[in-house]
Parts: sequence; structure tokens; C-alpha cells
Amino acid sequence: LQSEALEKIKAAENLKELQEIKVAYLGKKGSLTKVLKGMGKLTKEERPVVGEIANRVRESITEALENKSELLEKKALEEQLEKEAIDITLPGRPVNVGGPHLLTSIIEEIEDLFIGMGFEVREGPEVETDYFNFEALNLPQGHPARDMQDTFYITNELLLRTHTSPVQARTMREYKGEKPVKMICSGKVYRRDTDDATHSHQFTQIEGLFVDKNVRMSDLKGILDTFAKKMFGQERKIRLRPSYFPFTEPSVEMDISCKVCNGDGCSVCKGTGWIEILGAGMVHPNVLEMAGYDPDIYSGFAFGMGPERIAMLKYGVNDIRQFYTNDIRFLKQYHKA
Ligand code: PHE
Repeated sequence: LQSEALEKIKAAENLKELQEIKVAYLGKKGSLTKVLKGMGKLTKEERPVVGEIANRVRESITEALENKSELLEKKALEEQLEKEAIDITLPGRPVNVGGPHLLTSIIEEIEDLFIGMGFEVREGPEVETDYFNFEALNLPQGHPARDMQDTFYITNELLLRTHTSPVQARTMREYKGEKPVKMICSGKVYRRDTDDATHSHQFTQIEGLFVDKNVRMSDLKGILDTFAKKMFGQERKIRLRPSYFPFTEPSVEMDISCKVCNGDGCSVCKGTGWIEILGAGMVHPNVLEMAGYDPDIYSGFAFGMGPERIAMLKYGVNDIRQFYTNDIRFLKQYHKA
């Protein structure tokens, strides 16, 4: 029995066969178990002798099983390792990597320009109160200029911000009328417009605000001129036209010259040779006062621009919807390598 079992164990080729051998000899109905069960029939003298032999046989079979099982496991592992080995000399499969959205790149580029001129970057909520979106910007209830920005109201008091200008009011209030403010802020804004090539119910803005003692219109012009030249090229000129915003006085709109051709070709601009890119002005005394700044001591300028418009101008994108329909072929053109 013993040598038969050991012979089979030696021949076993895998763990399953080994298990079967174990059952056949040591299992409930196994041959060795039968021998042990039959011990009752033996005489008193025979029992210890047979018992000892049987135990020895069981021990040797058990040991053989264990050794073989260890061996087979090691073999199985080696086989698996070999099978799953990676051929590092094979060429890799290309991975489709993403990149920043064109708008994100433009916004970061503009923010960097202003950070370089000493502006700090701020943020404000997209769900805004009527107070910060309008009241604090000199647009009281019933002011006709509220119609300039068709608004998505959530409740009577809550709305989706129609511009990033509320961040001006929030920042000034946080600075408590005590220290100068020099900030920019970018983010999404919402207006109840019907989407077409030049309108989108959601778009982005970048806001700038500089409040200090003796801030003048010439400071505004200088900063904007620097911005335009850095963003679009040294050959660009800017032009300020009188305009109206309730929160600035005087208010202007800024055009940049666009009869410019360079190595990259000519910019898309028809008609007058000027294209409007932002609104700006000197912060209205009421706005300063509401935010806790004494308009007799402090003055400031503010500006607001649309990154979509700037991207459209800079890259010749002719439909604002392209920024939001997420056609990967469009977006990929602007991924930097
Ligand atoms: N908030 C204005 C708009 O959305 C832009 C603006 C900002 C104008 C700051 C003047 C000063 O049209």
C-alpha cells in the first residue's frame, strides 16, 4: 500500500491529481482509512503492531504528499510567470492623451499676463445674489440697465451671475475699504440668450479691478495697451470709445487694431479695422462707497472681457458654439505638443 501510494504521488503531474491520490488513501473511504477501521477485528496483540505500521504509513504518505504539493505549486508558479512575461522590446500602443481646452489655455495665458503686472487671482460663486450681481454695482432694482444682461433667476434673490463683476464688489468688501485691491477673476457667466454663432447662454469672462489712491484713466489705458500687445502682438494699437456701464464712470469700450498681417497670416477683421474686445472704466463712486471705500480717497479702474471672443480673434474661430460642443477634432487643434 505504501509503496503503491508513494509511486502514484511521484507520478502525479498536477495539484488536482495529487488531491485525488490524497482522497484515495487518506480520505474517509480511502484504503488506509479502511485498514484503520478494520483494526477492531484484530486481536489485542496484533492491534498495536498494525496500528504502528498504519501510522507510519500515513505519516510517510502525508509527508510525500506535502513535498510533492510544494513542488507542483512552485512549478505552476514558474509556468505562470513564464506565460505572463512581458516582452519589453515590443513597441508600445499609443495612448490618447487629453490636453487643456482652448478656453482654459487662453484664460491661463491672460491670467499670467496680469499676474506679471501684480494682479492677484480671485474667485467668486456662479450662483450669485441679486445684491452682488446688480445692487452693489450701482444697478438698483428697476434700473433700466438690468435689461442689458438677460438674467437666469433662481429665486427673487438668487441668480446665475451675468458677469464676473460681482467679484469686484466681493473683493472690495473683504478688503474693508482699508487696503488697495489689484485683482483679476475668471469664470463662467450666464445669460438668457438664444445660442447662435456669436451668442451662448453660458460663456466665460475675465474681470480686472485696481483700486488704490490716485488710480487714473491713464493707468487703465497703459495696462490695457500692455495687455493687447502681449496678447496679440507688439504691432497692435488700442482705441478707447465712450460707452456706458452703471458701475463705471466714465465707461469705455476697447478696440484693438486688426489690420495686421504677420507670419501667421492676417487676422479676421472686416470693416473699420478695429475690433471690440472689452468693456472698462473708472469704478463708479457709488460702487466704491457701497463696498466701504471712500471715493474721496480711493479711485480705481475695472475691466471685463470675454475669453471666447479673444480666442476667436486670435485663432480665427468663427462660431462660439465650437467651445462647448466638445468636438474632439476642433479641440485637438489647440493642444500643445
Ligand atoms: N461686466 C461688464 C459686462 O459684462 C463688463 C465690464 C466689466 C465693464 C468691468 C466695465 C468694467 O458687460
